[in-house]
Amino acid sequence: MDQLQKYALVTGASRGLGRYFARQLASKRRDLVLVARSGEKLDAIAEDLRSKHGVNVEVIVLDLGQPGAGSVLADELAARSLHIDLLVNNAGFGDQKRFLDIPIKRQVEMITLQNATILEITHRLLPAMIEQKSGGIINISSMAGFQPIPYAAVYSATKAFITTFSLALEAEVAAYGVRVVTVCPGRLAVAGEDVDPTKERKKVMGGEQTHDLVVTEALRKLENGGGLVIPGGINKFAAFAERFVPRSKIARLITKISTPPG
Ligand SMILES: NC(=O)c1ccc[n+]([C@@H]2O[C@H](COP(=O)([O-])OP(=O)(O)OC[C@H]3O[C@@H](n4cnc5c(N)ncnc54)[C@H](OP(=O)(O)O)[C@@H]3O)[C@@H](O)[C@H]2O)c1
Repeated sequence: MDQLQKYALVTGASRGLGRYFARQLASKRRDLVLVARSGEKLDAIAEDLRSKHGVNVEVIVLDLGQPGAGSVLADELAARSLHIDLLVNNAGFGDQKRFLDIPIKRQVEMITLQNATILEITHRLLPAMIEQKSGGIINISSMAGFQPIPYAAVYSATKAFITTFSLALEAEVAAYGVRVVTVCPGRLAVAGEDVDPTKERKKVMGGEQTHDLVVTEALRKLENGGGLVIPGGINKFAAFAERFVPRSKIARLITKISTPPG
């Protein structure tokens, strides 16, 4: 089993943070499995990483927001004999709207993608890591998971779920040599290649973190044994200070200082 070729799997690798995880891991000579729905984008990224870093890159085109997607992904990995020793659960999306203005199908898809699929794929890949007494799981949560957020009610709930699950899992599996990292970014800067000049970006408390910074901090935490990553000093302070505001008051407080989406 030790001689098996091991891959790092990154979900949501077709753009944004996932693409930066793929790039940094490839630069560290990690063979990769990239997953998302946009096959052409994944193929282009895979080709670029193979030619730049000489690593193996496999692409799996899959909608992870559908029920059972985590099992479909695990079956596909098994069918291709791809052994994963680093799982990056990154794929995700959010909507900033009133709860009733977001179609229920989309909200259920968000819960499936950001919660159920993560559980399924983790449940399937973890046993081999435990058996090997090594491996890593990086779960991308958000600052949004530290408190209920009106107008992002389901998004903040899915991220609270990831943070709670991920920190609990970290403690459960540490004794087996498996490292779990929980990453809670604030607002991410838009990567140069994704800038849309027609879209205005409002300033947010805590500023924006670059994708490279978030990935660097996550991989460093993994090397150091796992744990919680909150990139940015103001975000660290906000996550700490938030616990002194009564839970029953915090959502109303946020409603007072935020503008409802139009
Ligand atoms: N952006 C922020 O400010 C911010 C802040 C805190 C936390 N985060 C978290 O960081 C993670 C990455 O965010 P990002 O800003 O990099 O997002 P992004 O640029 O919108 O990229 C999202 C990635 O997820 C994939 N994805 C979305 N829905 C999918 C589905 N149903 N099945 C498979 N793949 C799917 C997308 O690929 P396809 O469209 O090709 O499927 C894409 O590769 C998310 O979990 C997000 O919640 C983001």
